[in-house]
Amino acid sequence: MKGQTPLLDVQSVQAGYGVSQVLFGIDLKIYPGQCVSLQGRNGMGKTTTIRTIMGELPCQQGQIVYAGQRIDKLDTFRIARLGIGLVPEGRQIFPNLTVWENLIATARKPTHGTTGWDQTRVLSLFPRLGERMRNFGNQLSGGEQQMLAIGRALMTNPKLLILDEATEGLAPVIREEIWKALDVLRADGLSILITDKNLKQLLERCDHHYIVEKGVCVWHGGTADFVADPSLRQRYLAA
Ligand SMILES: Nc1ncnc2c1ncn2[C@@H]1O[C@H](COP(=O)(O)OP(=O)(O)OP(=O)(O)O)[C@@H](O)[C@H]1O
Ligand SMILES: [Mg+2]
Repeated sequence: MKGQTPLLDVQSVQAGYGVSQVLFGIDLKIYPGQCVSLQGRNGMGKTTTIRTIMGELPCQQGQIVYAGQRIDKLDTFRIARLGIGLVPEGRQIFPNLTVWENLIATARKPTHGTTGWDQTRVLSLFPRLGERMRNFGNQLSGGEQQMLAIGRALMTNPKLLILDEATEGLAPVIREEIWKALDVLRADGLSILITDKNLKQLLERCDHHYIVEKGVCVWHGGTADFVADPSLRQRYLAA
């Protein structure tokens, strides 16, 4: 987006697990208010990219700039505090905390101009969670856990929300609920990065798409460009 500064700017990032290098050059930009997809087949490096952005894995080469500040040497909690909320793969709900305790565990007041997220607002987004407030994390269905994971991330009042496998393993009606909630967040101006296997849903709501293959961003472009080139799916996304 011409003339604008990206909210998140991932530049030539290399990372991995110990001596096992997984990312060989990830470049990715998210502009304020954009909804961006990160796609690629299993094991290509989507989760590793997200974990490196969040500081869970060391960035070995390259740099990551968020809101004008280098974040690639910061601890995860500092990155979260700067305004990046993560809905991790596998959801990682605290099993022995109640829904309410999960929501407030990492909650923070907004530090920027937006209307803040609090419990009331999360429950209006996901009314189902309201009925489960006193239940423990391990008593929830997968869909409820995902709603809680999104609610928990929103309670940190992020500027950028990252969802790793937004709807994986969920029943179709629950998936719909999650996509609808993401539409509400988009309309609210939140910047969003999503990985998910449902291409149709990603094309319907993301402005820009990145494809990762063996730890390298091999293509990126807008939805029209993506749709215009069916060979992309064949080359990079077909199972
Ligand atoms: N904890 C780990 N230790 C060592 N290697 C790992 C670890 N986690 C992932 N990998 C390897 O890193 C590579 C990229 O994995 P990653 O989880 O980033 O892929 P992905 O694109 O998110 O895949 P998926 O679509 O299955 O979620 C794979 O080869 C995987 O085996
Ligand atoms: Mg993954």
